[in-house]
Amino acid sequence: MELKSVIGTRRSIRFFEPWRPVEHEKIQRIVEAIYRAPRLLETDFVRTVVVYRDKLSAEQLQAAKTPTTTAQLDMAYAYIFFFADVAELEKVADGRNFRELIRRGILNSSHGWTEGFVDETVVPHLRSVLESGGRVPVQFQRGADGPTVARQVLAAARHAAGAAQAYGLLAAVDQGLGVQLSAFSHARIMTIPDTWAPVGSPMFLGYPGESIEAGGQRPREPFEEDFFELRYGHPFYREPAVVKKLEDALMIQAPAPFGWRFEELRGLAKKYGLPD
Ligand SMILES: Cc1cc2nc3c(=O)[nH]c(=O)nc-3n(C[C@H](O)[C@H](O)[C@H](O)COP(=O)(O)O)c2cc1C
Repeated sequence: MELKSVIGTRRSIRFFEPWRPVEHEKIQRIVEAIYRAPRLLETDFVRTVVVYRDKLSAEQLQAAKTPTTTAQLDMAYAYIFFFADVAELEKVADGRNFRELIRRGILNSSHGWTEGFVDETVVPHLRSVLESGGRVPVQFQRGADGPTVARQVLAAARHAAGAAQAYGLLAAVDQGLGVQLSAFSHARIMTIPDTWAPVGSPMFLGYPGESIEAGGQRPREPFEEDFFELRYGHPFYREPAVVKKLEDALMIQAPAPFGWRFEELRGLAKKYGLPD
């Protein structure tokens, strides 16, 4: 699919065809995309674990449910869990990744990057992040007994995971898959290393069981309230001709709800045996 149409077509899909497996190569493409997301502090924080619904026991599946994450667990073929290995920063806090990027001509003196800058400024900055105060649990589920990490490290890792998730979402839509981020815990499904913090929300994957438009594009605040240029309070100029082009390219699509959405929902409830 064309990128603009991928962006415009992506929406949170909450129904999946439970009987239809997703090809492994499609899941691989998603993971490959996640792997290519931007890297915060030149640290490879992000880890993912792809879990297949049918490999879980009924007890595991039941235990992962929350009041509003139920049907998706039963319907999605796979779940991608996102974690950040908070120990990664310590591993590279000597600045090795920055030095490598200088060697490879990626961070350049044209932009102020030198080995000296790495030694004198970057390394102390990385150490200050690592040693910053306000420690928090790496895994909140484990409570006060579990390992802890500097709050700033966890915040950085979460940023990295957010960017990676965006890549994964778009790669899924590009391949005709339904995808949704949803809050539920890995804790009853798998154990993870002590240094892995659950970040972002797990991603459900499957073939869409609802129309890919899923009733239309979802509401956002008015563009002018959130996007600015020059300064805060000065809306980013939105050229109507560009808006039109993006509509033609399907990045901007008709808003929800389509006239037939509620009929569709009733039909889906019947089709999948869900509450109406
Ligand atoms: C980090 C994150 C967590 C989310 N968790 C849930 C969730 O637990 N349950 C749910 O139904 N949707 C969840 N969503 C999806 C949002 O509800 C959805 O993105 C929002 O309604 C906008 O709709 P759209 O994604 O279709 O554009 C989550 C989204 C994000 C970014």
